[in-house]
Amino acid sequence: MTILDGKALSEKIVDEISTQVKRLKAQGRRVPGLGVVLVGDDPASHTYVKMKEKTCQRVGFLSKVVRLQENTTQKELLNTVRAMNEDDTIDGILVQLPLPPHLDTTEILESINPSKDVDGFHPYNFGRLVQGLESFVPCTPLGVIELLKEYGIDPKGLDCCVVGASNIVGKPMAALLLNSFATVDVCHIYTKDLKRHTLCADMVIVGVGKKGLIKEDMVKEGAIVVDIGINKLSNGKIVGDVDFDNVSKKCSYITPVPGGVGPMTIAMLMKNTLKAYYNLTRSKDTV
Ligand code: GUN
Repeated sequence: MTILDGKALSEKIVDEISTQVKRLKAQGRRVPGLGVVLVGDDPASHTYVKMKEKTCQRVGFLSKVVRLQENTTQKELLNTVRAMNEDDTIDGILVQLPLPPHLDTTEILESINPSKDVDGFHPYNFGRLVQGLESFVPCTPLGVIELLKEYGIDPKGLDCCVVGASNIVGKPMAALLLNSFATVDVCHIYTKDLKRHTLCADMVIVGVGKKGLIKEDMVKEGAIVVDIGINKLSNGKIVGDVDFDNVSKKCSYITPVPGGVGPMTIAMLMKNTLKAYYNLTRSKDTV
């Protein structure tokens, strides 16, 4: 059994991006900028945004975080996004989700300039992803693909079972696997018999936020298991959706939690921001 070490790979990627930013600085160029909008008091969201801010500092990006109160109006939030759309020092925009329930998430995500949509949540990018076209790809599923690539795992021809069908993880994950010529089975909360689906899969990718969901008897011998779940226990420990101790005995490859997909997500955010920067600066150069 091999551990898919997302921490090590993410550090390698972050180091590579730092080197590129140093080179830009040495050339007297502006550095890439990431704008983050955080609404409300959700503790997990605050933690994620702090991690994103810290990584921006580490790679040398400009980072602008706007923290808005829980009772922010739709109009105020739209204005915040518009200001970032128009800000030439910001290449990537991220609105941390979930938003408080009184806000219209779809309208907010659709207000982001698709060229700055480093989360890949705008329907323009999502549609292009599904069609197999060049686009911004959501960071978590993109991180999974990069991690698999690092270990020489090609999804082509594999039977893959994606557990969870969210717009952030499950759906783009399924699209990426399909684009890599895997056979994809997507399970969700209404799936009648989850085990029937996971047990026959060469690769199980799970991201639903339910600790211990995937047990030893649900995966076949030699399967590849990717755990995207993040669950905080009452003692503060973070665990995934997979019963790691028992499932890992049957796997060929498995991601740990923490240290698997999580750090890859932030590394991919940096990568997408650098890509947005190059796209935007290149298009300016040619005007
Ligand atoms: N909330 C949970 N994951 C994400 C993510 O990748 N991006 C944003 N914007 N919000 C999230």
